[in-house]
Amino acid sequence: MYTLGINAVFHDSSACIVKDGELLAAAEEERFTHVKHGKRPIPFSTYELPFHAIDYCLHVAGIHLSDVDNIAYSFNPYTLLGRHAKNENIVLPLQPHLTTKSKEWSSEWDPLFLSFIVNAPGQLVDGYPHHLQKRFAGAKAEINKWHFVDHHIAHAASAFFPSPFHRAAVMVLDGRGEKATSSYYVGEGNELELLSQVNMPHSLGLLYEAVTSHLGFLHSSDEYKVMALASYGKPVYLDAFRKMINIHEEGKYTIENANFEELFGERRMKHEPFTQKQFDIAHSLQKALEETAVKLANWLHARTGCDDLCLAGGVALNCVMNAVIRDNTPFKNIWVQPAAGDAGTALGAALWVDAQQTKNEYRRNEMEHAYWGPDYSDEEVEQFLNWTKVSYKKLDNIPQETAAILAEDKVIGWYQGRMEFGPRALGSRSILASPVNASMQQRLNEIKDREDFRPVAPVVLEEDVAEWFEQGSYSPFMLFVYNVKEDKADKIPAVRHVDNTARIQTINRKQHPLYYDLVKEFKKKTGVPVLINTSFNTRGEPIVCTPRDAIECFWTSPFDALVINSFLLEK
Ligand SMILES: [Fe+2]
Repeated sequence: MYTLGINAVFHDSSACIVKDGELLAAAEEERFTHVKHGKRPIPFSTYELPFHAIDYCLHVAGIHLSDVDNIAYSFNPYTLLGRHAKNENIVLPLQPHLTTKSKEWSSEWDPLFLSFIVNAPGQLVDGYPHHLQKRFAGAKAEINKWHFVDHHIAHAASAFFPSPFHRAAVMVLDGRGEKATSSYYVGEGNELELLSQVNMPHSLGLLYEAVTSHLGFLHSSDEYKVMALASYGKPVYLDAFRKMINIHEEGKYTIENANFEELFGERRMKHEPFTQKQFDIAHSLQKALEETAVKLANWLHARTGCDDLCLAGGVALNCVMNAVIRDNTPFKNIWVQPAAGDAGTALGAALWVDAQQTKNEYRRNEMEHAYWGPDYSDEEVEQFLNWTKVSYKKLDNIPQETAAILAEDKVIGWYQGRMEFGPRALGSRSILASPVNASMQQRLNEIKDREDFRPVAPVVLEEDVAEWFEQGSYSPFMLFVYNVKEDKADKIPAVRHVDNTARIQTINRKQHPLYYDLVKEFKKKTGVPVLINTSFNTRGEPIVCTPRDAIECFWTSPFDALVINSFLLEK
């Protein structure tokens, strides 16, 4: 039984294919179209489906769209359609304030937004680009195959079903779903029991987004930059945020409307230099989020009695918050979906539908890595290199020869195996460098044309993590920060953020043999089992997907070498 998962409703459009409970492939649309996040989260783009990601998933499964048994879409429009749920027509706004301003819609554009979602089955079989017709043509809009899954159920399923736990508490924090903005479950076997939820307009995710905009960044995109900025500030405005967020019983909270201009002064315009005030706002917001998340998680622990916690939703990409939950709540183990943002809802929706269809059959598969995207054989890569007439050499021992280049303080593009699913590069599409010299952080920010304040993160051999990072433990998805151990601090200065933390990725041989062997070889040469790992892209661009993307990025950026499959390209 094939289940196609689709996330298209807001942003980070993505697709996955699940066969009898087993994930075969998953990818974000942005990697194929080069439009970061796939699209902006506005009602007018809701009709855009992730056709390229779907095509890729069908290709991996070796099937056509017409062969798919279930289509799981990670948003349920019927939750919001109210009395219009059975109507043939809803009125679309030409002048929204004239036609649709009414209490039944939360926004004047809801009719447009919802009609695009309701009509997604037709769009899937009619709207595909011509060049993808091979796998799409001939499919019919079979509505009985379609499952509109509640957005937060999709997030929760993406966190619980691929986790290593049989029974666990689940917390979802995002901007918004249909109505829910935060939700809490207990997961057991194939089931998720909803315990409580917070509804719009109260949303920790939307509060973080609003402050992101106030600080001159792009909301629904640059929240991780605010998190990085927070390390430079003081909690000057913490009380102001505390007053905004009121926590009630059963994990519920309300957020009071606030005028940021009155509270914090004028908003920063993009490209204006940062002031201490903006660092302090970011810091205060981050602290308020952490405090709130700890309170919510403590309630959830008491409510469920579970030792294990699963997290998803865009807010769960906040690795500093995750570390605070890890260190300040009674949960013993935390598993965060690597595609915690909306991309992961394609996976969650598909796993949920699969589980619903096979109620009595236990089909849980732990997700031990995030390598679910496209890969290319040596033959394919070499053919492309020859066609482009670039010169290259074939490596006999990829880890050994690459480690030698890195030990010379060179910056390399590293392109190996299946592309990562989720926003982090985890050693398949990465830029790698030595962490030994402090100046490397600055150099990488220049190479990638990133802001100076942005840290770069380390990958560390799983067996060495406890020796180099305080309380260091298994952390394969770069979703938690750890403090660098004092006696190691001057050995890896480039990956220490200003507050001595590092957002680490642990790697073992099972997850990615070549990547693991490379770090191990680097350790042999330098005594340091750590490399800098940052995503293989430049500012504003999605992470590279194809060999062509990798070579274009390499030749138009000032890094020194590219190791793509078995081949080395040098400048
Ligand atoms: Fe979401």
